[in-house]
Amino acid sequence: MKKVAILGAGMVGQTLAGGFSKHGYEVVIGTHDVSKHEGDPSLSHIPVLPYADAAKEGELIVFAVKGSAAEDVAKEIAESLKGKTVIDTTNPIADAAPEGGVLNFFTSLHDSLMERLQKIVPEARFVKAWNSVGASTMVNPDFGGVRPSMFICGNDEVARKEVATLLDQFGWDTEDMGGAVAARAIEPLCILWCIPGIAKNDWGKRAFKLLR
Ligand SMILES: NC(=O)c1ccc[n+]([C@@H]2O[C@H](COP(=O)([O-])OP(=O)(O)OC[C@H]3O[C@@H](n4cnc5c(N)ncnc54)[C@H](OP(=O)(O)O)[C@@H]3O)[C@@H](O)[C@H]2O)c1
Repeated sequence: MKKVAILGAGMVGQTLAGGFSKHGYEVVIGTHDVSKHEGDPSLSHIPVLPYADAAKEGELIVFAVKGSAAEDVAKEIAESLKGKTVIDTTNPIADAAPEGGVLNFFTSLHDSLMERLQKIVPEARFVKAWNSVGASTMVNPDFGGVRPSMFICGNDEVARKEVATLLDQFGWDTEDMGGAVAARAIEPLCILWCIPGIAKNDWGKRAFKLLR
């Protein structure tokens, strides 16, 4: 089993760190301010390191940093991402306030954050996943026996298959949308998912399911 480095110690980083640990993986967390997380009980069993050190240790990387910081973090640790599968959970959420419950992105429909990250580190094998659900439902969610769909994409087919296997372990059916350009469609699913939360403070359990 690969050693997993989760970059980002927010809700997503902590949830996925718990999930990977539960499934028997060795996990480290990376953050830009280690001191902020000292004594955090939810991270007591997981080493918290600076981004660069965590990325060096990880054989599989999970990118879970704030969207607006993602490009800078990718530049900072580019060398350690080369040749590795990088699961990208980030969303390009802009600082501007949502309008009628609808988040603003700093990307357009002709662009996506993951494509930008892929351009920064062409040798990394980015796969978009876990960006279109709330953190609380990322690990083996219970939808009364129905497995929800996770839309993924990325330029490397082997990396996409690796992530699909992981998602299966975490209770998700994978919908593989092909190359990184599909992130232009997958990232905005976050906007849709968040509308009931922002508009009606309903952050309850929900996920997308593709029916055929
Ligand atoms: N929350 C969700 O339910 C959810 C669901 C799906 C996808 N996402 C996406 O997943 C990513 C992580 O979300 P999140 O809710 O866990 O937390 P977040 O608040 O969006 O990001 C948390 C992480 O980003 C780091 N960070 C913040 N500003 C930074 C900067 N200027 N430079 C470097 N690092 C910085 C924080 O570092 P420190 O800990 O050191 O402060 C923290 O580790 C986001 O892109 C989000 O859009 C979130």
